[in-house]
Amino acid sequence: MNRFFNGWFRKKQQDGMTTMAAASESSREGNDLSSDNVPRHVAIIMDGNGRWAKARGLPRVAGHHNGMKTVKRITKAADRLGVRYLTLYAFSTENWKRPKAEIEFIMKLPQEFLSLELDELIRNNVQVRMMGVKDLLPDFTLSAVEEAVRRTADNTGLVLNFALNYGSRMEMVESARKLARQAAKGELDPDAISEADFGAGLLSSDLPDPDLLIRTSGELRLSNFMLWQLAYSEFWFTDVHWPEFTEDHFHEAIREYQRRARRYGGL
Ligand code: IPE
Ligand code: IPE
Ligand code: MG
Repeated sequence: MNRFFNGWFRKKQQDGMTTMAAASESSREGNDLSSDNVPRHVAIIMDGNGRWAKARGLPRVAGHHNGMKTVKRITKAADRLGVRYLTLYAFSTENWKRPKAEIEFIMKLPQEFLSLELDELIRNNVQVRMMGVKDLLPDFTLSAVEEAVRRTADNTGLVLNFALNYGSRMEMVESARKLARQAAKGELDPDAISEADFGAGLLSSDLPDPDLLIRTSGELRLSNFMLWQLAYSEFWFTDVHWPEFTEDHFHEAIREYQRRARRYGGL
């Protein structure tokens, strides 16, 4: 258990701080980030767990286990800055290609993470969500996530959205199928289908598009992550592997984001 993280949660609880109050305290603590241009939605491809472990002569799964600590750390950092939505890519629809033992280990992590953190997340007003296909997930994984989603459903603070068994092409095909079914029934005019209609059929339909995408570990690709939703997001890559990604690295990404001019095709 990470004592620093616990300490932060306890402190927020004692102070009864809101997200906004926490954000302003964070700026008082001296980071040089502007509090009026914080990305509303940050999405992260948490990559490099295996290489981090290998470099230390450890089994790959040790990287996944350590990566859990980074999830705590960055959840805390995002909340303190006033980020409203944090989406974390935890397992892709392509990750089933990995060895069975590694998959089994990864599938146990949500349960472990939530058994340690759920009570604190609840007390800190964090709302947990899952974005992905529930089929194929083991019962113990799904029930742990669903319990967290249910127990935090009424929370109004940071939305912590886990992309678990998520694949973007799959969700886009599924959205197309929904629209095709409606059209086949005569309920929808194909020529009237809008971008909003297509977006409404995606797993992210209740989230704003990410403002900032972060990928760790030096890979410069999307790996089937939020292809539709990232159309106008700012991208930030780092060579740092996920287990050693710190609050300072996160601030570096936000700082760079704050320097960017988002034009959306305009001037
Ligand atoms: C990211 O780390 C976690 C998952 C994809 C589940 P990796 O396991 O991909 O680590 P590398 O990229 O092999 O180092
Ligand atoms: C993307 O990482 C998926 C997650 C971080 C969950 P991968 O490690 O699976 O991506 P590739 O295979 O290097 O593209
Ligand atoms: Mg990887």
